[in-house]
Amino acid sequence: MSKAALGVLISGSGTNLQAIIDAIEAGKLAAEIKIVVSNKPGVMGLERAEKHGIPTAVIPHRGKSREEFDAELVEILKAAGVELAVMAGFMRVVTAVFLRAFSHRVMNIHPAILPSFPGVDAQGQAFAAGVKLAGCSVMFIDEGVDTGPVIIQAAVPVLPDDTADTLRARIIQQEHRIFPEAIRLYAEGKLEWRGDKLVVHGAEADAQAALVNPPIPE
Ligand code: GRF
Repeated sequence: MSKAALGVLISGSGTNLQAIIDAIEAGKLAAEIKIVVSNKPGVMGLERAEKHGIPTAVIPHRGKSREEFDAELVEILKAAGVELAVMAGFMRVVTAVFLRAFSHRVMNIHPAILPSFPGVDAQGQAFAAGVKLAGCSVMFIDEGVDTGPVIIQAAVPVLPDDTADTLRARIIQQEHRIFPEAIRLYAEGKLEWRGDKLVVHGAEADAQAALVNPPIPE
């Protein structure tokens, strides 16, 4: 089976990038990271890439229009032979310049069960709202903010003693599981576009399964 050629976009610590690298190295994901691109220099995610021999690029965003930035990004990704762009903590809103060049081929991870809590600090929004279940989503992106079709989601409980930070830590553990899985579904041809609708093929969830919080006593 041929490997999916990935370009991973980051802005920071890159723990999701690490989860993808680990899944590839463990033989669980038939993919190759052609390049890691950051809009910020000196971030930990770049170090992680270098440690694993993955080429990196930094595109500073200051003094550029969003379209100019995206045009540079497209050029770098295309030159590296990238087929699927993966936004792993990439803190930028992208434009049609990027989305047109990688139509239906840009994935993003968001730390909430979309369409709840789009935008910044999703975990803090969920915590403040007092919901009992929180979680994360991987989706393909479109021109809205966190509005594209969802590929996979994970739910976690919000516990009585939680702070926004403990909740954040519980959510990111699940991010590290579902992001490589979403890419695997792509690499194995399980994500099918029918017009603008996405059909996800693959194992079906147990229809009786439910995460209830607070739990109902047996
Ligand atoms: C993650 O919580 C992701 O969902 C959000 O930014 C964070 C990035 O973390 N978009 P990392 O850089 O992968 O550690």
